[in-house]
Amino acid sequence: MVTPGKTLHILSADQFDRPFLDRICDLTDTIRRYDKSKEGMVYLQSLLPHRQSMLYFTQPSTRTFLSFQSACNIIGMKSSEIRDPSTSSERKGESIEDSLRTFSSYVDLIIMRSPVAGLCNRIASLLDETPRPVPIINAGSGPDEHPTQALLDIYTLKRSFRKIGGIENKSICMVGDLRRGRTVRSLSKLLTKYDGTKLIFASPPEFKIGDDLRQTLVKSKISFEETTDFQGAIAAADAVYMTRIQDEYDVRREDGTSESRSVDISRFCLKASHLPSLKSTCVIMHPLPRRDELDPAIDKDPRAKYWRQERNGMWTRVALITMVLGVDRNILLPEL
Ligand code: NCD
Repeated sequence: MVTPGKTLHILSADQFDRPFLDRICDLTDTIRRYDKSKEGMVYLQSLLPHRQSMLYFTQPSTRTFLSFQSACNIIGMKSSEIRDPSTSSERKGESIEDSLRTFSSYVDLIIMRSPVAGLCNRIASLLDETPRPVPIINAGSGPDEHPTQALLDIYTLKRSFRKIGGIENKSICMVGDLRRGRTVRSLSKLLTKYDGTKLIFASPPEFKIGDDLRQTLVKSKISFEETTDFQGAIAAADAVYMTRIQDEYDVRREDGTSESRSVDISRFCLKASHLPSLKSTCVIMHPLPRRDELDPAIDKDPRAKYWRQERNGMWTRVALITMVLGVDRNILLPEL
């Protein structure tokens, strides 16, 4: 997926093929080994001290923002941030295109999260036409895509299944707001790259996956099923991927009620009482933040992997940035 001489933007899960996924997982493993010693950490710091990143996050974020910021620190990159566009010249009426082109004048990488689907792609095309194109990484684009979350989810699944044959031939059950959840969309696309994988989508009818994802899955020939039977779905799964209701995308109705309020999600909440019905090797995941759909009492269960997902996110993003900026080869030198 790397075209020589072209700026590598990370915009969508569609662009990752299986060799790329294998490579980023191997690279992430190696980076984690470097981090185990002071010498290794100092070596990682020496990779990109001459490069700067900009984190342009105009939608709320805790994990993705901090893990990208920490990832930059780990490889010695300086980073600047904009989290509130009212502090930039967008406030004076500057177009978002002009603002981002301006940022690109000062930095070597732009990591961006925005509520607008497709904005990253637009900015990437715009920058490609400039004399100094810098790579864009999509850190979440409205309800559309979250490709880097999907990478850390794949890494977490791969590690969790390493003693039981890897991701191939596993049933992955996704639960919650599957229509508007960008993590579900991006991860589902990546799971089509693993032979024999089965996807089970459990949600209230109002939050079923969208037609575009359904068509992608049909085309890829992956086996998948949509159900409202939460209990049956989680009992059959090798991994249960919980998600929250994405009510920030609610369309306000004329009568003042909101879309999400009228949907009963109580049957799609994972509680401690469900644990006995899960497989003993089941992996419980959640991109976080969580609400009532995932009972904190589950945190102590060894099958709960969502806190590991957070940390895996930082390491996977270190690996990704080194690939985007072309220093990944330096990491595969003999280890310290
Ligand atoms: C997710 C997101 O922003 O899409 N969170 C994250 O990046 N870890 C999931 C969510 O907000 O529900």
